Amino acid sequence: MEQTKKDITLENGNRIPTDETARQYYFMEKARKYVEELAHKLGRKPTFCVTTFGCQMNARDSEKLSGILTAIGYENSENEEADFVIYNTCTVRDNANQRVYGRLGVLNSFKRKNPHMKIALCGCMMQESSVIEKIRKSYSFVDLIFGTHNIFKFAELFITCFENHEMIVDIWKDTDQIVEDLPVERKYPFKSGINIMFGCNNFCSYCIVPYVRGRERSREPKDIIREIETLVADGVVEIMLLGQNVNSYGKNLKDPISFASLLQEIEKIEGLKRIRFMTSHPKDLSDELIDVMAKSKKICRHLHLPLQSGSTRILKEMNRRYTKEQYLALARKIRERIPDIAITTDIIVGFPGETLADVEETIDVIKQVQYDNAFTFIYSKRTGTPAAAMEQVPEEIVKEGFDKVLKVVQDTARERVKLWQGQTAEVLVEEINEHDASLVTGRMSNNTLVHFKGDVSLIGKIVPVKLEECRGFYYFGEKI
Ligand code: 5AD
Ligand code: SF4
Repeated sequence: MEQTKKDITLENGNRIPTDETARQYYFMEKARKYVEELAHKLGRKPTFCVTTFGCQMNARDSEKLSGILTAIGYENSENEEADFVIYNTCTVRDNANQRVYGRLGVLNSFKRKNPHMKIALCGCMMQESSVIEKIRKSYSFVDLIFGTHNIFKFAELFITCFENHEMIVDIWKDTDQIVEDLPVERKYPFKSGINIMFGCNNFCSYCIVPYVRGRERSREPKDIIREIETLVADGVVEIMLLGQNVNSYGKNLKDPISFASLLQEIEKIEGLKRIRFMTSHPKDLSDELIDVMAKSKKICRHLHLPLQSGSTRILKEMNRRYTKEQYLALARKIRERIPDIAITTDIIVGFPGETLADVEETIDVIKQVQYDNAFTFIYSKRTGTPAAAMEQVPEEIVKEGFDKVLKVVQDTARERVKLWQGQTAEVLVEEINEHDASLVTGRMSNNTLVHFKGDVSLIGKIVPVKLEECRGFYYFGEKI
C-alpha cells in the first residue's frame, strides 16, 4: 500500500471521531475554514470543476466529490480554469489514459496563471503504479492523487493537500469499507445513479476493472432503500442502480438477497417512477429477474447485456463463461417475455487470437438479437491482464473486423428504433436541446432519445410524446 507522504496527525487529534462518516464531516468542517480564508484572499468564492472520464460509476463518484467541495464552500464552475480541478479518470482502454495525459498539459498552463489552483487526480487510472510513477516524474505540478478505494476520505485528503506544498499520493490496494451518508451534489435534480455494489470478481481476461476496483462488495439493502427514499423526497423520479455485475448483487451479504428481490423492494417506494440498472453479466441473469422485469411497472424496458464476442472460442479465451448459443437463448427468452424491451450491448473487436471468422460469429449474433444499440470497442491491451500476454491481432485485421461490425450494428439499431415510428411513448424530459433551444430532449423507457417542442418547465416530468420522425437512433416528436 502506498501511503501519504506525511502522516495525518492533527494537533487536536484526540477529537477526531472514529466513525468514518463522522470523521469525514469533521474534516469538512475544518476544510470550510480554509476555504473561507481562501475566499477572503481571492475576494470571491473559490470555484471547482470535476471532470469525469469513463462510466456511470465514475459519474456517480464525481457527484460525491462535488458534494464535498460544495459543502466546504466552493462553487461549481464547470470550467477547468477553476481553483480546484479534479480529473476522475478511467483506464478501461488506453485511449482514456492518453486523453488524461493530453489534458494535464493544458491544466498546467491554467495553474501557472492561477497560483491558488489545486489539481487532483483520482479514479481507476490512479490504481496503476506505472501511472503514478509517470505523474510523479512528468506532471509534478499535480497536488493530490487518490484512488478508487479511498474516495470516501476526500475531505481528509483535501486538508492534507492544503497543509502541504508537495504532491500528496494516497492509493489503497483494496478495501472492504463502504462509507454511507456523505454529501452528494447531483448533476440532475430529477434522476440519480445509486451504487448498489462495488468491484468485480469476474476477471474477464481483457479487463482491468477487477484490478483497479477490487473485489465485489454489495451495499446493505436497507442502506440502498434509505438512500432512494431520501432522493425521491428530494425530487428524484428515475434511478439507475449501478454495479459492474448487478446480477450477482447480494450474494455475499450476511443475509444474502437476490438482485431481483432488491428490485421488488425498490419498486414499492412511493413517488419513484423509473428504475434502471447497469450492468448485467449474461452468465448471472436469472429467470427470476426476467420475471420481475416483465411484471414491473417501474423497471425500464431496457437491458444492457454485454456480448463482447459472438464466438464461443473467443468467449472462452475471454473467460466470459457462456457460449454463443447460451447467449442467444437468453436473449430470445428475454424478448419473448418482454417484447417491448430494448437490448443493448458492448462488443470488443480484436481480442488476441480473433480471426475474421470469429468476427462473423459476432455479426451473426448481432443480426439474430437485433440490438437497439451497441457500443463497439477495439480491444485495448491492459498491462497485468491475462490477455496482454496473448498473441495480439495485427492492426489491419482489427480495423477490417471493426468496420464490418460497426456497419451491421448501426443498420440493425436503425431498424429497431424505426419500429416505434408513429407510436406514443412516455418520455422523461432531461434538458433543453443542445442545438435548438425551442426543443427539449428526453428519454423513453427503453432509453431512446426524443426531441420535441417544449420549455424548461417540462424538465423532470414524464410526458406522452407522439414519435413522428425517426432520425437514425433518435426521434423528433410532439407532446400530446
Ligand atoms: N479493450 C477494449 N474494450 C474493453 N472493455 C473492457 N476492457 C476492454 C479492453 N481491454 C469494454 C467491454 C466492457 C466495456 C465497459 O468496456 O466491452 O463491457
Ligand atoms: Fe470487466 Fe468482466 Fe468485470 Fe465487466 S464483468 S468489469 S468486463 S471483468
